[in-house]
Amino acid sequence: MLRGDDGGRTLQRGAIAAAKGVHNPIAAAKAMLFDKPVLIAGDGARAFAAQAGLRLCDPDALIAVHDAKRSDAEKRHDTVGCVVLDERGLLATAVSTGGLEGSAAGRVGDSPQPGCGFYCDNNIGGAVFSGDGEEIARMILAARVMYALDDLSPREAVEASLAHLDNIGGEAGGIALTPEGKVGWAHNSDHFAVAYASSDDPSPKVYLSKSEEQNA
Ligand code: GLY
Repeated sequence: MLRGDDGGRTLQRGAIAAAKGVHNPIAAAKAMLFDKPVLIAGDGARAFAAQAGLRLCDPDALIAVHDAKRSDAEKRHDTVGCVVLDERGLLATAVSTGGLEGSAAGRVGDSPQPGCGFYCDNNIGGAVFSGDGEEIARMILAARVMYALDDLSPREAVEASLAHLDNIGGEAGGIALTPEGKVGWAHNSDHFAVAYASSDDPSPKVYLSKSEEQNA
């Protein structure tokens, strides 16, 4: 399991990777925001969660319960991420994934790596990606969004970032949010499920692809 979580005001980051037996990995990532490490992998992630007083679990039992509920497609790919802006103007991002089916033991994808599967800076914006982890990491897609937001809208920034995947292949989608509350998203995969809402328009908009949003 790979998890990342970060706060945009102080640039605190926390993530655990290749972790087993941590009941809520996002809680562990959040606990790390107030500690020095940015990313802890493997057995150390479970030890960190235990030290933070978080709930542990039997890793094998949890995987068996989850897998019994999932289709084969869900087992292959199950990343969820979010970017939020609160009423105080604070941005935060979080992303959680089961990784990719068939990966090598100990493999770490993009999700817990700052600048790859996520990034957040209150002065610039927040971004989260989902998709082919190695390619997202090689192209540091979230970092590219951060730089692109200087000149582009969030949607354009995610599109510009994804365009770099053309050089190496790979499918992904990303979401971005600015400190002004502008939302943008894009994907080069066939589908990319997204939902967003704001205090001005609280009824959630839910789409399975960009074309669905454009045809709505
Ligand atoms: N994007 C999730 C992973 O590759 O692990």
